Amino acid sequence: MRKLLIATKNPDKLREIGRLLEGLNTNIVSLIDFPEIRGAEEDGLTLIENSYKKAYEAYLSTGIPTVADDTGLVVDALQGMPGVFSARFAGENATYTANRRKLLKLLEGVSNRRAKFVTVVTFVRNEREIYHFVGEVEGFITPEERGSGGFGYDSIFLYPQMGLTFAEMPLELKNKLSHRARAFEELKKFIINESRIS
Ligand code: IMP
Repeated sequence: MRKLLIATKNPDKLREIGRLLEGLNTNIVSLIDFPEIRGAEEDGLTLIENSYKKAYEAYLSTGIPTVADDTGLVVDALQGMPGVFSARFAGENATYTANRRKLLKLLEGVSNRRAKFVTVVTFVRNEREIYHFVGEVEGFITPEERGSGGFGYDSIFLYPQMGLTFAEMPLELKNKLSHRARAFEELKKFIINESRIS
């Protein structure tokens, strides 16, 4: 069975990605299995830069075909912020809670609550074969937190078609319609198609 490395140490992400890649007939490992490897510095100015950097550095350290993702929450009324800075919105090493509070505070009294999650997935098969996949989902920032599932900004991101925040959905549902699900679905189609050809 082929190995695929997911370049993350974040157990929340890994749980989602593991489910999303079920059925691929690959042996999935992550950077949690390689404690000696430090995660890449996420200092790029775009999601694609960070996603590429995470995947490429982990590939160079392990020689295993690697997938990484980078996600940002893009808020209309904040000219696209926090975007690529979503993890550190409230400061270096900020908690999920601190980031959400900062965002809710900035949007107090603001009527345009439109936002979208964007995920860029990078697949580094080897030094020459590098692919990117993008997934997006549009929604609204709620006035307060709702729900206890998910992670990050999930409890303040309303998916309007269902009237639920991502944190109010079971993982199976979030994994059918999220930004990450959409990007990984493209990756999965690509890998399945390729294995048919080769
Ligand atoms: P990362 O750089 O891809 O790890 O994501 C940056 C930040 O975006 C994370 O620290 C989370 O706060 C947030 N984030 C990423 N994915 C999700 C998600 O699926 N739901 C909610 N927040 C997320």
